[in-house]
Amino acid sequence: MSDRDRELVVTAQAAAAGAYAPYSGFRVGAVVVADDGRSFTGVNVENAAFGSTMCAEANAMASAVTAGVREIEVVAVACLDGGECYPCGNCRQMMRELSVARIVVQDGAGGVRSHTLDELLPHAFGPESLGG
Ligand code: THU
Repeated sequence: MSDRDRELVVTAQAAAAGAYAPYSGFRVGAVVVADDGRSFTGVNVENAAFGSTMCAEANAMASAVTAGVREIEVVAVACLDGGECYPCGNCRQMMRELSVARIVVQDGAGGVRSHTLDELLPHAFGPESLGG
């Protein structure tokens, strides 16, 4: 694991302290590093209507897109409690749209793991799939 990846996970975990998770108590933070080097954080934001809950990495990616980003280098995801925390299926699909190159997560034992999106979402449906 690289020092850079470890730093990203530390930043994501620090962001998780600001999560709004009154229902699950499961606080998640994320950091997106765009292809131009800018970075964006996000946290999970829960809702009494549970289906309206937003994931940390989805919020970070939405902030990046709002700022003009269209390609993402890295998404780091971390839980406040330090446990293993992999992105959900919807977030993986969102990562596919934004050509995320790597996903960095905690391994639950104080270390970090780096994955390609192809490892987490093989045979993905993407923009090219609509091309006919
Ligand atoms: N959560 C995320 O923020 N990211 C994920 O990829 C998995 C789940 C949040 C949503 C909800 O607030 C809590 O974790 C429990 O599912």
